[in-house]
Order: sequence, then structure tokens, then C-alpha cells
Amino acid sequence: MRKKIVAGNWKMNTTVPEGIELAKAVVERSASVPSDVKLIIAVPFTHLYPVAEVVKGSAVSLSAENCADREKGAYTGEVSAAMLASVNCEYTILGHSERRQYYGETDEKLVEKVKLALACGLKVILCVGENLAEREAGRHFEVCTAQIQNVLYQFTAEDMKNIVVAYEPVWAIGTGKTASSAQAEEIHACIRKVLADKFGAQVAEETSILYGGSCKPSNAKELFSQPDIDGGLIGGAALKADDFIAIAQSY
Ligand code: 13P
Repeated sequence: MRKKIVAGNWKMNTTVPEGIELAKAVVERSASVPSDVKLIIAVPFTHLYPVAEVVKGSAVSLSAENCADREKGAYTGEVSAAMLASVNCEYTILGHSERRQYYGETDEKLVEKVKLALACGLKVILCVGENLAEREAGRHFEVCTAQIQNVLYQFTAEDMKNIVVAYEPVWAIGTGKTASSAQAEEIHACIRKVLADKFGAQVAEETSILYGGSCKPSNAKELFSQPDIDGGLIGGAALKADDFIAIAQSY
């Protein structure tokens, strides 16, 4: 059985003291979430070390939002996968559309990042998704398929045990415009088929595929009821502990 996951992506929000308070509130309320739903919070690099202390021993797992595509050395301003692992970070998001769009993240760089993250024992949440122009041109299946093939086809079935996929249509991120549950489900089913083509049906069945893009307490239940949607990657609504927990309780 694949894992149900509700992950919050804080993006570049909250100061460290505010982040600690938010993490504490999530941990406090986490007992009210069904035990088969895994909670993850992805926080800015500066927050990882103190937030690791807050989530220690709780049901909440810690994630970074990115990592470097190099192992170590003279790469000013970068944070390596090994550094993340050293502060008890369990996951990292990679390939978020904001990284692809604003920081030139390519599928080639992502292959390096995923390799380094896995080598350091991190689990990866790999994001894929089409932008509005691609959706309007009817290219959404093709774009998501290519993103999965370009990155994940470089890995093995064994690696896939530590990889979660997040489908985040760019036009739905932070816009208040959610993909309908039918629109999301058809892409999730397509992603699962693309995974099955390379890794076999069992690996595809066991891989969690999350939906992200204006997911909130009012639409989470409908989205999560779809057969191929295994949870959510939550942006804005993850900045309020009550909303984040209410989304997780939708299961
Ligand atoms: P919103 O939930 O704010 O639309 O953001 C989604 C997202 O990008 C999560 O990674």
C-alpha cells in the first residue's frame, strides 16, 4: 500500500521564530490526524536545524525545499544534500516549478540533485507540472510525461522506494484556481502509467503521487478521494496550522 502524505511547503515565508511557532502548532495538532496519513513540513534552510528539534519524536517529518546539484566545495550560497542529512532532515522537495521558472532548474540538474539526495539517505519529493500555455495547448500529458522520463527514468525501482511525485499544475499554484479533481486524477493516472512503463506495475502502485496547487480545507476531500491522488503538497494553506491539519483530516 502506498503512503498517504500531506506535505506543507512553506516556500520563502516566516522568520525563524515564526517558523518554530508554526512547527510547534503543527506538532501539537498532529495527534488529530489519522495515523495512516504522513505529515511533512518543508521549511527554508535557515529553519531546518531548530525545526528538527521541534518535530523530533513526533509524527511530523522534516523536509527541505531544495538542495545543491554538487556534492560540496566552492559553490557559494548553495546547501548540499549531506548538509540537509546532517540536521536530521528526512526529505527534500526538488524541481518545484518556482525553481524551474525563476532559478533555471533543468531536468539535467534535477537528475544530479536526486542522485545526491538519495546518496545521502534523503527521500525526494519530485515536482512536475505544466504551465498555463502548455495546458491551453493541450500539452499537459506530454509535458508531465517528459518531466518524469527525463528525471526518474535515470533511477532504479529500488530508488523509487524513496521518491514521491508531486503533480503541481503551475496555473493552479497560488492562484486560487484548483485543478478539478477530474483534471488532477487524469494526470495522476498518466504519471502512474509512465512509472509503470519503466519500473513495472508494482512500483507504480507503491509510489505516492501528491497533488499541489491551491489545495485547501474546502477542496482537499474531493481531490484526495480520487484513486490516484495520494495526498497533497500544500503552499499557502500550510502557513496556518489549523488549515494544514484540516487538510490532513480530510482523509
Ligand atoms: P499553493 O497551495 O499556495 O497554491 O502552492 C502550491 C505549491 O506550490 C506547493 O508546493
